[in-house]
Amino acid sequence: MTVEDILVADYLYHIYESKAEDGNVVALRGLHCRVKKGEAVAVVGPSGSGKSTLLKCLGGLMKPSSGFVSLAGNNMTRLTGKELVELRQRTVSFIFQEGNLLPNLSALDNVAQPLRHQGVSPRIAKAKAREMLKDLSMEHRAKARPAMLSGGEQQRVAIARALITEPKLILADEPTGALDPVTSVQVLDIFKELHEKKEVAFLIVTHSREVADFADRILELRDGRFVAQRGGDVDLSDLEAGEREIFMDELGTLNLPPDIVLQMGGSGSYRVDELTTGKLTLVNVDTSTLNSVDSVLRLVDDCPACGFTYSNEETLLCPECGSSRPKVSA
Ligand SMILES: Nc1ncnc2c1ncn2[C@@H]1O[C@H](COP(=O)(O)OP(=O)(O)OP(=O)(O)O)[C@@H](O)[C@H]1O
Ligand SMILES: [Mg+2]
Repeated sequence: MTVEDILVADYLYHIYESKAEDGNVVALRGLHCRVKKGEAVAVVGPSGSGKSTLLKCLGGLMKPSSGFVSLAGNNMTRLTGKELVELRQRTVSFIFQEGNLLPNLSALDNVAQPLRHQGVSPRIAKAKAREMLKDLSMEHRAKARPAMLSGGEQQRVAIARALITEPKLILADEPTGALDPVTSVQVLDIFKELHEKKEVAFLIVTHSREVADFADRILELRDGRFVAQRGGDVDLSDLEAGEREIFMDELGTLNLPPDIVLQMGGSGSYRVDELTTGKLTLVNVDTSTLNSVDSVLRLVDDCPACGFTYSNEETLLCPECGSSRPKVSA
């Protein structure tokens, strides 16, 4: 961890234990990640790949089965419950897919509450909450309870609540998921301003291309591990080799996204052809040994992450959310 990092996670594993027939679920498999102060990182990946689990472990809301998480220089695994709550209140805000609001409080009180927890007086907290609601065009619904608000309105109140404490890091799970396009742009503009002017760092799980474009880099999660990374400014559908990074973990496990496996010709034997520091060239031994991915698998019709229906048979990255297009048994 350097002083430049707001968030560091190493060797992160999470297993949901279950006695049910389908047994335990390994949601995170030895994942590493780093977010620098003021950096915006998007996480994309198919449904069930571990995105929400990751956010909960990183934000200290759930204890990972094993691994190390450090937030603003504090090793979270070593903190007591009280210290953890204090660290969270000072540093990080969450925006979840749902369940962000307290049902018995008005929109205004929901937004003001995190400041009240920090000891701010009711008058000042409410005045600031009113300003936040105004920024999100929600001041006219300040008195409403969450149940009386639409999904998108609740989401905007949740965003106001997350921003009111001026956190250094925002962990957001599909923050624009419930919003119409116009409101999404408004929320994204607020995120951009926080990012650019106040150097707030973001880790955003998203299926939205606009949100992914806002990020400085995009990480692709698959089966509980990051498999690839792209810069935020590259076209998500661009598969040029030089614009993508693949991660290898400390055990040497290399997880290739399916579109790359497909381009290489499928699974089979590869000979180490050139090996120098920082460089490895693999050459297929004999093309007849390749298990052509095509013969056993076909590309899915709909993106499992965002539901986008592919019209082109050869598209390998979802144009909506940037996830790799998986293959299923033919
Ligand atoms: N409380 C739980 N108990 C048992 N298994 C769980 C629980 N929550 C999630 N899982 C499993 O862990 C894996 C990762 O789930 P997670 O919610 O992190 O996925 P996700 O990437 O956020 O998916 P989505 O895009 O659908 O929100 C999935 O296989 C899921 O079924
Ligand atoms: Mg999720």
